[in-house]
Amino acid sequence: MTDQSSLLFDQFTLKGRQLANRFVLPGMQRGWSVDGAPTDTLTDYYVRRVKGGAGLIITESVAVDHPSATRSAVFSRLDEGTFEAWRQCVGAVRAAGGHILLQLWHEGAVRKDEDLGDGVVVTPTLSPSGLMAADRPRGRAATLEDLEEIKQAFVRSALLAQKAGADGIELHGAHGYFLDQFLWEQTNRRSDRYGGQSLPERARYPAEIARSVRAACGEDFIISFRFSQWKEIDLNARIAETPEELALFVSLLRDSGVDILHVSTRRFWEAAWPESDKTLAAWVRQLSGLPVIAVGSVGLSTDIMETAQGLESQSDAQASITLLDQGLQRGDFDLVAVGRGQISDPEWVNKVQEQRYGDIIAFSRKALGKLDGETDHMEGVPPKA
Ligand SMILES: Cc1cc2nc3c(=O)[nH]c(=O)nc-3n(C[C@H](O)[C@H](O)[C@H](O)COP(=O)(O)O)c2cc1C
Repeated sequence: MTDQSSLLFDQFTLKGRQLANRFVLPGMQRGWSVDGAPTDTLTDYYVRRVKGGAGLIITESVAVDHPSATRSAVFSRLDEGTFEAWRQCVGAVRAAGGHILLQLWHEGAVRKDEDLGDGVVVTPTLSPSGLMAADRPRGRAATLEDLEEIKQAFVRSALLAQKAGADGIELHGAHGYFLDQFLWEQTNRRSDRYGGQSLPERARYPAEIARSVRAACGEDFIISFRFSQWKEIDLNARIAETPEELALFVSLLRDSGVDILHVSTRRFWEAAWPESDKTLAAWVRQLSGLPVIAVGSVGLSTDIMETAQGLESQSDAQASITLLDQGLQRGDFDLVAVGRGQISDPEWVNKVQEQRYGDIIAFSRKALGKLDGETDHMEGVPPKA
């Protein structure tokens, strides 16, 4: 197949929105927000990816309107104070012809308590069970009252995203953050209705958030849910042990109002379970009947965590496009996210469409720029301690 006839450049209709092609910019923290508000630099970065061909923009993780969501001012946040900046950012993306989802996020136990010096912790770090991993306590377990407040914070931020003109939101339930801490049995030891032995039991709280956002924002608003098996602190972690468990989980999300599932893997071609060569994205698409976004090392020889560990990558977009075309034809996924490839080259998608593979600016860790050392922890850069 030549790239001109590639299905990756077919349009895709997502809840009535016509996406120009199958390529997505996934959420990636850039450290370009000031006091939670996106700067012109961040807005320009998104607009350049729209002009460079990306059919759908997902913003970097944006903390919801709750004091425990994040403590860092360089991380984006969506509340009344940052709304106007987000309205302008979303407006610029839409004016350039793009579609945009805001990725709503809470750090959970990844966030560190903030001791203002007198031993008083003003906004305690909250998570399902006060755990970052089985042997890594941090902060405290959220009470049912805390959880209700945080749920309302997700809803408030989703309503603000809608008012800002976004096509929808993505719930960040991946990589070991708050919502994922519910899903993973190592970090969810609750004995109330939000805990349990099985994944569908542990998924009740994230599903309730999706249901509440749907009720508040109405039918036309897109809700994506991103999840992963792997965690930044445990690459071999699993939330679903079997396809049967996965089926119950994704059905719950679908029945709670989720429109599209973003299956975060580190390498898009890898099999989810040894018994079959089917990828996790392909399993999810088959089991949920929902559209699926695949992701992971498109065009690159290293995965995201190898980049975080300091390894440089070789680039080969053409080889990935051939594999992706086969996957799309098999019905393994609907959309594909290209992360680091589009960090280094805003024109990545257009260059692939024009088969200008040799012109693609190869990804290098230098493209991550000022992220290193900027905060105690940021996705895509190594956590310190
Ligand atoms: C600098 C950087 C920041 C990231 N921040 C986020 C984030 O805010 N939310 C998220 O869900 N994933 C985040 N990720 C993960 C990416 O969305 C993506 O899943 C990952 O980079 C794999 O795609 P790639 O191999 O095409 O780069 C980040 C990745 C990088 C490189």
